[in-house]
Amino acid sequence: MPTNITLTVNSSKQTVTTHPDRPLLDVLRETLGLTGAKYGCGEGACGACTVLVDGRPLHSCITPISQAEGKSVTTIEGLGQGDALHPVQQAFLDVEAMQCGYCVPGMILSAVALLNRTPKPSREQIVAQMNGNICRCCGYPKIVEAIERVAGSNAEVSAR
Ligand code: FES
Ligand code: FES
Repeated sequence: MPTNITLTVNSSKQTVTTHPDRPLLDVLRETLGLTGAKYGCGEGACGACTVLVDGRPLHSCITPISQAEGKSVTTIEGLGQGDALHPVQQAFLDVEAMQCGYCVPGMILSAVALLNRTPKPSREQIVAQMNGNICRCCGYPKIVEAIERVAGSNAEVSAR
């Protein structure tokens, strides 16, 4: 039975009328037109669909929209400020950490969550955090390098 669900997406309040079990990823992509989060496995195993919900990285493909009610969701589209990229986005560009790019939105949001919690993570902490995000192009060394670059700077990494 469709119901009204209100949540904040990238600082903008949204009310959607939909089935409460519908995946958050589907609502973001198909209802709100935010196609940055990607569909990969659809079962919580690849991280391509990662978004932040109240600052925590979640697999939006297996998160029912009802679980996001009243919460704040950040997608890759909401990370930068105007034309300025978020420092983690910039670092991915600077070290050329993307090949096909499919995994990158989820990778970046997982990295932002880590850096918010642990501004100077060790390599082991980075690897542990990013373990849930799979890159089928095997770009892991560059991805770790990008995160270490941000950790080595004093960039402000908080997300909305
Ligand atoms: S598409 Fe969600 S974890 Fe793979
Ligand atoms: S850059 Fe292609 S999947 Fe990661």
